[in-house]
Amino acid sequence: MRLTAILGSPHGMKGTTGQVLAGLLDGAREAGAEVTVYSLSEKQVAPCRACDACHKTGKCSIQDDFPEILLAMLNADAIVLASPNYIFSVSAQMKAVLDRCCGPLHLQIMEGKHAAAVVTSGGSGSEEVEAYMLRFLRTLGCWTVGSVGAEGRQLFDEDSRTKLLVSAASLGAKLVAAAEAQQTFPDQQAERAAFHERMKQLVAFRREEWPYEYEYWRSAGRL
Ligand SMILES: Cc1cc2nc3c(=O)[nH]c(=O)nc-3n(C[C@H](O)[C@H](O)[C@H](O)COP(=O)(O)O)c2cc1C
Repeated sequence: MRLTAILGSPHGMKGTTGQVLAGLLDGAREAGAEVTVYSLSEKQVAPCRACDACHKTGKCSIQDDFPEILLAMLNADAIVLASPNYIFSVSAQMKAVLDRCCGPLHLQIMEGKHAAAVVTSGGSGSEEVEAYMLRFLRTLGCWTVGSVGAEGRQLFDEDSRTKLLVSAASLGAKLVAAAEAQQTFPDQQAERAAFHERMKQLVAFRREEWPYEYEYWRSAGRL
């Protein structure tokens, strides 16, 4: 059971998001997961240049740490995205990773994996960012198991810190259990099927311009 976590805070594991993520990962490890964390504070991931190379050839034209992160996502059974709330959205570091996943998203290549999200905020608004990251994970093809959102001050008080980390650990354990059982989520089925169909239509429509993606869908017998 392999779990890949991506942390989008410039503060790394010492920051607020990193501490909540660590709680989730403790629960996942206890449930038997082998965990790898990619802290974007230590990685270089540039924004997407919209060159379409991934759609045309299956390879990104930018040379940085993204391919290593993508490979770790592909090799994982479970994925966790963790980001601070930056103005009602994810950090720019995390957004760069999401955008660079445009090719894999067209391929629906993460179908069957399980995923969860972690968000922390200074004041409020984590829910919106949790919903955004979970939606992104579903559009990649993952089943989303849940998310944990927190405000930084919850970590200062011993009582609320313990409660928060216990609930994060319980999400980590739930994620591993769902991945192990290959659990499906009927309430996600309609959105999932609609997005899969949308990507299939898109790739078929652009087959001349994006031969790699068309061939991927065709050779997988999905067209
Ligand atoms: C650029 C920037 C934008 C932020 N925007 C918000 C916001 O819209 N709402 C909020 O509640 N907190 C906001 N914050 C606060 C962070 O979300 C909060 O401190 C978070 O817990 C930091 O996590 P970290 O220590 O893992 O980096 C912002 C912080 C920064 C640096």
